[in-house]
Amino acid sequence: MSAIPVFADSVTDMALDWTTVEQGSGLKEFRPRRMNPGDWVPARRGDMLKDVDTPALILDLDKCEANLSRLMAAVAGTQVQVRPHAKTHKCAELARRQIAAGAVGVCCQKLGEAEAMLAGNINDVLITNEIVGESKMQRMARVARTYAPARVGVCVDSVDIARQLAAICSAEQAVLDIYVEIDVGQNRCGVSEPRAAVELARWLANSPAFHFRGLHAYSGLAQHRRGVPERRAAAEAAALRAAQARDAILAAGLPCEVVTGGGTGTFPYDVRSGVFTEVQPGSYLFMDVDYAKNEQDIHAPNFEVSLFVLATVMSLREDRATLDAGIKAFSTDLGPARPAFPGWRVRNVSDEHTVLMRSDNLTPIKLGDKALLVPGHCDPTVNLHDWLVATRRGRVEAVWPIDARGRAY
Ligand SMILES: Cc1ncc(COP(=O)(O)O)c(C=O)c1O
Repeated sequence: MSAIPVFADSVTDMALDWTTVEQGSGLKEFRPRRMNPGDWVPARRGDMLKDVDTPALILDLDKCEANLSRLMAAVAGTQVQVRPHAKTHKCAELARRQIAAGAVGVCCQKLGEAEAMLAGNINDVLITNEIVGESKMQRMARVARTYAPARVGVCVDSVDIARQLAAICSAEQAVLDIYVEIDVGQNRCGVSEPRAAVELARWLANSPAFHFRGLHAYSGLAQHRRGVPERRAAAEAAALRAAQARDAILAAGLPCEVVTGGGTGTFPYDVRSGVFTEVQPGSYLFMDVDYAKNEQDIHAPNFEVSLFVLATVMSLREDRATLDAGIKAFSTDLGPARPAFPGWRVRNVSDEHTVLMRSDNLTPIKLGDKALLVPGHCDPTVNLHDWLVATRRGRVEAVWPIDARGRAY
């Protein structure tokens, strides 16, 4: 595979000892984040919420645990397994709690996230994405070999890539769980025709480098269809396309044990579809302003917001309160964070500031007060923080590292 020489001579050496650095294929590059003496952390166990340093990412444990239980209760008694998406929390402690509650493993979107989860003792990780490029494939194969017998799975949508990956896995003596990704309405990755799914499945099932598990069939667009009928219809359309690919694979005499997909918005329909054997909700644990725009299905669990950004009022002028958290503390791709209290609205957000305007007198604010904000979009907000401050009824119970923070590679 050729590289486009965009950066030909422009790399400077900076003050870095290059002999100690691994690029691309190194395993040593992942070191789980630990709290060392002298490290800055926003809070200590036992602190009151109002004493947490800001901006900080706050988890309300009661609400988070309620969300976890509601999901597992909604799926209990069915044949469907839960494999929550760790791209949402990126935190091995939360992944371990999801598994303790009955999840079979976790999903990751990036190899770097998968490394963080495996290093955190999660022994079944599915990368719900394609891994392309020789050095990254090599790194994945070494990760799989190093953590065996932990299961490491990945998706493919091209025979060429499958061939390259199989050769690398054989050379590295690694075996991967492998899934054909099918496009069920996202128009992103995945094969579009059942015939192409069969061709790829046949290739994968016959390769000793792989353990062919089945299909990955996820539609992100379906999760955020606002009305219940539209959301259910989008989920049913995705399930139908997954069923057509699965049936074609089975008709060709190949196995198709797993059909995995679905998220917080559609999992109730996916579980009842008779097609999915596994669902992958991520946001349900935290929720956010964007998910709250989905119409609640009265037959589905009602997940509550459990994730907040805590900010300090750093300047106050009559009807205007300026907070010390902006787009470096919460993502704005799906709209800004919103105050978790009434009487104030967001006027504007900049790099390190959010300006609130008073809309009525419901919540008095003083200079130095701490303000809880609900993120617009939970996943990219989590990715901006090193630590998750876990609280219960206003007191800090734990501070957990966001292990896969920034591991977008
Ligand atoms: C492949 C895949 N599965 C599951 C999820 C989880 O979706 P949600 O956070 O809406 O539950 C995502 C989120 O983007 C995803 O990309």
